[in-house]
Amino acid sequence: MKEKLNEIKETAAARISQALDLKALDAVRVEILSKKSELTRISRGMGSLSPEERPVVGQLVNKVRSEIEDMFEKAASELKAKERAARLAKETIDVTMPGKAPELGHLHPMTAVIDNIKNIFIGMGYEIAEGPEVERAYYNFEALNIPKDHPARDEQDTFYVEGCGDFLLRTQTSPMQVRVMETGKLPIRMIAPGRVYRSDEVDATHSPVFHQLEGLVIDKGITMGDLKGALAVFAKELFGEDTKVRFRPHHFPFTEPSAEMDASCFACHGKGCRVCKDSGWIEVLGCGMVHPKVLEMCGIDSKIYSGFAFGMGLERVAMQKYAISDLRLLFENDTKFLKQF
Ligand code: DAH
Repeated sequence: MKEKLNEIKETAAARISQALDLKALDAVRVEILSKKSELTRISRGMGSLSPEERPVVGQLVNKVRSEIEDMFEKAASELKAKERAARLAKETIDVTMPGKAPELGHLHPMTAVIDNIKNIFIGMGYEIAEGPEVERAYYNFEALNIPKDHPARDEQDTFYVEGCGDFLLRTQTSPMQVRVMETGKLPIRMIAPGRVYRSDEVDATHSPVFHQLEGLVIDKGITMGDLKGALAVFAKELFGEDTKVRFRPHHFPFTEPSAEMDASCFACHGKGCRVCKDSGWIEVLGCGMVHPKVLEMCGIDSKIYSGFAFGMGLERVAMQKYAISDLRLLFENDTKFLKQF
């Protein structure tokens, strides 16, 4: 019996040393120590021994079992250590490798300019209005005192939505004046930035889609003096404290009188340079006192209320501010260009 048990122990030792991982070791454990194993069979067969033999053999079987169990435990902890070491070696991090920094984006120069201008007017108490890019011809033209055969329609040729009443892609943000006045809430102090469309060929200064910002102030007793004051403050905020403005007479169908406003060149302070094409001035916007006819069409009594309006092309402001010579760069989304800002 003693030999038998020794043999079992030796077999166990040999089988354990062959197990290369924990899974294999488990399989060996089942083979050597389970209910069906030879060792268990010997324990069970003790009943057939004489009362003298029983305690001796019992002790021996228990000793062998516990020795085998110790062997398993030792092997398991060795295998665990080995597996852990292998895993650590595989997962080693080379701390000298350069890190992968996520690429950070930033605002597009157009967005930066629009935000900048919006914030200036918000600071002056203006509200922001938004309206449709697919607009009624009525709001884009008629209500702005541009009747059907007016030559201004030729200058602002656009894309018409066929078979859908009088809808078109708005050529200007000015229809927002009408939409805001029509709500009937007075006084008004608002700006309306947004995309506008014209059927223009693409070149360095033209694009069939671009951005404008409209402004409108309506209250009792608003004069051209208010217009000049507000827009002079705006120009200083946008281009710098020492910016001067000048107003040149102009014509827009929806304002009377009308003007164009220039600002002294922020780059050369009026001396003449590339940005201002040597004139010392940069053209910034169109403006004027809202035409009484426009007020009346919107249901506002022009004998009690008056106001001023202005509109500017935002690409032009961005191009001047960042000295960009080709409008197309603002739409092409070439990151080599955009990364400079
Ligand atoms: N909508 C005009 C344009 O696209 C710009 C403009 C001029 C807007 C004078 C105005 C204004 O509100 O008063 O050329």
